[in-house]
Amino acid sequence: MTSPHRTRVLTGITTTGTPHLGNYVGAIRPTVQASRDTHTDGFYFLADYHALIKCDEPARIQRSTLEIAASWIASGLDPDKVTFYRQSDIPEIPELTWLLTCVTGKGVLNRAHAYKAAVDKNNAAGHDTDADVTAGLFMYPVLMGADILMFKAHKVPVGRDQIQHIEMARDMASSFNHLYGEHFVLPEAVVEESVALLPGLDGRKMSKSYDNTIPLFAPAAQMRKQIAGIVTDSKAPGEPKATEGSALFQIYQAFASAEETAAMARAYAEGIGWGDAKQMLFERIDREIAPMREHYQSLIDHPAQMDKILLAGADKARQLATPFIRELRHAVGLRALSSGVTTSVAKESKTSMPSFKQYREKDGQFYFKLVDAKGQILLQSLGFASPKEAGQTIARLQSEGPSVLAELKSVLHFDPLNAETLSEILLILKAHNEANQK
Ligand code: TRP
Repeated sequence: MTSPHRTRVLTGITTTGTPHLGNYVGAIRPTVQASRDTHTDGFYFLADYHALIKCDEPARIQRSTLEIAASWIASGLDPDKVTFYRQSDIPEIPELTWLLTCVTGKGVLNRAHAYKAAVDKNNAAGHDTDADVTAGLFMYPVLMGADILMFKAHKVPVGRDQIQHIEMARDMASSFNHLYGEHFVLPEAVVEESVALLPGLDGRKMSKSYDNTIPLFAPAAQMRKQIAGIVTDSKAPGEPKATEGSALFQIYQAFASAEETAAMARAYAEGIGWGDAKQMLFERIDREIAPMREHYQSLIDHPAQMDKILLAGADKARQLATPFIRELRHAVGLRALSSGVTTSVAKESKTSMPSFKQYREKDGQFYFKLVDAKGQILLQSLGFASPKEAGQTIARLQSEGPSVLAELKSVLHFDPLNAETLSEILLILKAHNEANQK
């Protein structure tokens, strides 16, 4: 069970490519390890709405979603212990995106790195400033803000290039909270400095954009062949070799223990041939990957199974998202027309939620009422013999919501004209109660 009192860690993976060793070492492996921390609640999702911004090939989006999901699970992510879902299975995300869009300055988005880079490139080339820039690229940070704020994430592990997006999400949260009351948690970026940056086949950072990657779950024979293609210098067997600046050595180090790495350094000094060194590297990587490869392949071969896992994750996520978006809609004024209709358009108090008030009357009995922000009584109890009974009835309303109204009708009074409003408010209080109690 997730709890708002535990640290919530959330991160998304854009579904445009096939996971490679660089993704594994830099993101998947450390994140899976961190997900086992029993003091945090992990939220990991496939950012397929984000993928649409970068990719207009439907088959590629679908395939990448399957491959990334399978890679994370085969690498040890336990969907029963974390909330693992696909962004597009959560309709509350685009809905929240709009609410955030309306509190985000356009000027702030003008300064987002990815958008600015596209604009600068166009300007430098003498093209129209916004040539080939979609509104999707422009809105990227708001969608990302919705991902993060929806689940009240405290910590968001990301690469350096994403820090600005987390800062923007904080700004959106503060603006919204300022306008409509404290609804959002302000997230923090976590940039893991110690994880290895893996070089690719050509020695530059392993990255899809350099076309120098080694797929994480390629068949063993293909992986061996690709490893054979890693650039080296032309020193012959027997000549001492430098570990410094050797892509092969760096990749080895990312998989090996300290002792294994020291042994490899000695082998370099003693003039190991590049062919032998590559064989050692292949064997070391394969030792870690081979056991997961089978699991990966079985997941890829059973996509319906993966759909099921992801939908179960979406279900878990929506248990939080659905009541929260209800609360947010209410906060901004998208609410039942009968709820606290006012004759004035004065700003309403931001922080006062409807609340239960308990009191004792002159008749010696104990009563409670549910009062909205303006002091209007939404619900009135009859008298109880003890404060405990009154308190227990309040507790049931708070934990079970409007579904108990029928059962409790002999001890409660409310205007039937307000029934709709009352239900809505009880649902919101229930969501609050759950958020605060778990
Ligand atoms: N933009 C992120 C990336 O490219 C992916 C992403 C989407 C994300 N939504 C997110 C990361 C929310 C963290 C939190 O890496």
